[in-house]
Amino acid sequence: ETSGILAGKRVLITAGGTREPLDPVRFLGNKSSGKQGVALVEAALAAGADVTLIHAPMDVPAPAGAKLQPIETALELRAATLAAAATADVVIMAAAVADFRPANISTGKIKKRDNTDDPVITLVRNPDILLELVAHRAAQNQQQFIVGFAAETGDEQADARTYAQAKLQRKGCDLLVVNEVGPGDSGSERVFGQDTNQVEILALDGAEPVQTGGSKREVANAVVHLIAQRLGGR
Ligand code: C5P
Repeated sequence: ETSGILAGKRVLITAGGTREPLDPVRFLGNKSSGKQGVALVEAALAAGADVTLIHAPMDVPAPAGAKLQPIETALELRAATLAAAATADVVIMAAAVADFRPANISTGKIKKRDNTDDPVITLVRNPDILLELVAHRAAQNQQQFIVGFAAETGDEQADARTYAQAKLQRKGCDLLVVNEVGPGDSGSERVFGQDTNQVEILALDGAEPVQTGGSKREVANAVVHLIAQRLGGR
């Protein structure tokens, strides 16, 4: 039961997959459907929160009841998120942010021409918004609660949980919701675009990891519960 447990809290959620333009008609994107982010919006609204959703393109409609701010690129997401975070009690970074963007955006459509070399796309790194949020919160609101998401795989060197724990420490967010996308990439179809999810939620305060799965709404309710629990203790 989550009714009212986030009453009066301002919750900022990012969702969807950013699009990084190459030219006026093309972009680099990713498989994020936005479904987990939308489920988080619905769960936070049901818990009584005042919700803002900053969203890159999604396969599902944005839910009614939240303040909506559509964006496309990682840099747009960054500007909107850092601005909105100034007045948020909770920030949940569920967006799939492109790690890289094309170094140059062609003003005209990139053409295929005979007798010339095929084009080469040079990429540059996008800023890590989650890291910036954690760095900025100290100045703005030490009490702000920040949640990150991660998709992890294990390899010969370590398992997915070890990588996830390292990521939690590196990012410094309060909770990290980890999708375990099986060995290699074969498990990715279990997550992207599906209505169900299987996650492990790691906490920076050292609490035992919480494993949960089911519909994306059930996962969202579990995240909302853990947030409300932590906010209650502050
Ligand atoms: O490092 P990784 O991309 O696995 O981290 C995932 C988490 O970091 C997600 O919460 C995602 O929204 C956030 N992120 C970000 N800015 C980036 C890349 C990821 O805020 N440039």
